[in-house]
Amino acid sequence: MTPRKANQTMRFTERYSSHARRSGELFARAKQTIPGGAGSTARLPRNGWEPYPPFIVRGTGSRIEDADGHEYIDYLLGLGPMILGHRHPQVTKAVATAIEELGTCFALPYELEIEAAEKVAAAVPGIEQVRFANSGSEAVGVAVRLARATTGRRLVVRFEGHYHGWQDTVYWSNHVDPVLAGPASHPRPVAMGPGVPAELEDTLIVLTWNDPESFSQLMDQRGDQIAAVLTEPAVFNTGCILPEPGYLELLRAKTAEYGAMLIFDEVITGFRFARGGAQEYFGVIPDLTTLAKGLGGGFPVAAVGGSRQAMSLIADGTYSHSGTYNANVIQCAAVSATMDVLAEPGLYERQRALGEHLASGLERIAQAKGLAAYTRGIGTVFQLWFADRPVRNWRDAAAGANEPAFERWYQEMLLRGVLFHPLQFENMFVSLVHDQADIDETLNAAGDALAVVAGEFKSNVA
Ligand SMILES: Cc1ncc(COP(=O)(O)O)c(C=O)c1O
Repeated sequence: MTPRKANQTMRFTERYSSHARRSGELFARAKQTIPGGAGSTARLPRNGWEPYPPFIVRGTGSRIEDADGHEYIDYLLGLGPMILGHRHPQVTKAVATAIEELGTCFALPYELEIEAAEKVAAAVPGIEQVRFANSGSEAVGVAVRLARATTGRRLVVRFEGHYHGWQDTVYWSNHVDPVLAGPASHPRPVAMGPGVPAELEDTLIVLTWNDPESFSQLMDQRGDQIAAVLTEPAVFNTGCILPEPGYLELLRAKTAEYGAMLIFDEVITGFRFARGGAQEYFGVIPDLTTLAKGLGGGFPVAAVGGSRQAMSLIADGTYSHSGTYNANVIQCAAVSATMDVLAEPGLYERQRALGEHLASGLERIAQAKGLAAYTRGIGTVFQLWFADRPVRNWRDAAAGANEPAFERWYQEMLLRGVLFHPLQFENMFVSLVHDQADIDETLNAAGDALAVVAGEFKSNVA
């Protein structure tokens, strides 16, 4: 840590400790019985929540309240699931009613499950059939194994900077050290933590995203050995990176040419900026789609779906997709009600415009303060990049992003009542219930916060 960074961190820690005294007490207590003090490693200080995360008492619509009585405009949105804001009345009521009238878990099929599946299939262009699961990691695991079972091949292609959950098969090369991974033209798979069997390296090919040459070359050399190409159709696990024109089409064409399955991991993009997800927005249809976050309007549910043909091994029982809690009543009630809310005509157009107003406003303010910063995204999800170059993939992000500047932006906004993830490589979510007043308040706070950041990061000034 540089002396300047150490100084700024110390100053923030002091201010935050008096701002969030009660959260500090709760964190100390939580550490006694919960490893690290929180239920996911992503919530720990080492992942940006320094010196400790705010403890939350409740969320309502676009706002969230902490244990110290502060209200925040919430752009973290539970890391994405709260697509309808917190406690959307229609979804909450549907779930409560289903529990009261039906039960919670039968481990047998029931009619509400069919309704939920029908509504998902009606919304997402690449889905004719769908199975429900419990988390995005689980859904990706199902899709990858199904692609291997269907093609009889072993190799899976994935991309640096993408995140597909914590399972051993895919927990590789997310925010990887470029020195360990080697040249961008031929990156080496790097496991993202201890405990992942090294042998799995031989089952993966890792590529640099948005690089048509390395992808075409690989497919032309080894396409007939590839079971699946697994990608986020727009990357939201390295800030926000959009596909360059023609890139998704290339993935589609080459996988079709060589009989590999194309898997779109739409855990973040599903229902986010278009009801039919990124596949509808970009007009490229994968063989398999994974969904989670937005799917249940904040309730824990995931899904894997595809054409009848792509799902045929599950349909005939050859591939055993099982799970005690799959398609439980809470999930299907939440999915069914969420799909109804999302079907409102004009909803996405309205919220994308609102989100774009916020994104362009933040970019304008940051640049007016002299910061090398810009926003990238699609309305309801975007990131403010503190970067001195365009970011097309992980290598650009690793080389060009000013993470300390982002951290200070997060800190100054938190103290002004606006909450989003503290790390540059995450993003800001705008729910379908944020409104103009939220955006105006956020832009007001941003004016002051970005002035502070600009004052501290002279070297970042264009
Ligand atoms: C694109 C993507 N895939 C998979 C996952 C894993 O989902 P979960 O955290 O529900 O296991 C995530 C989580 O952030 C994700 O962003």
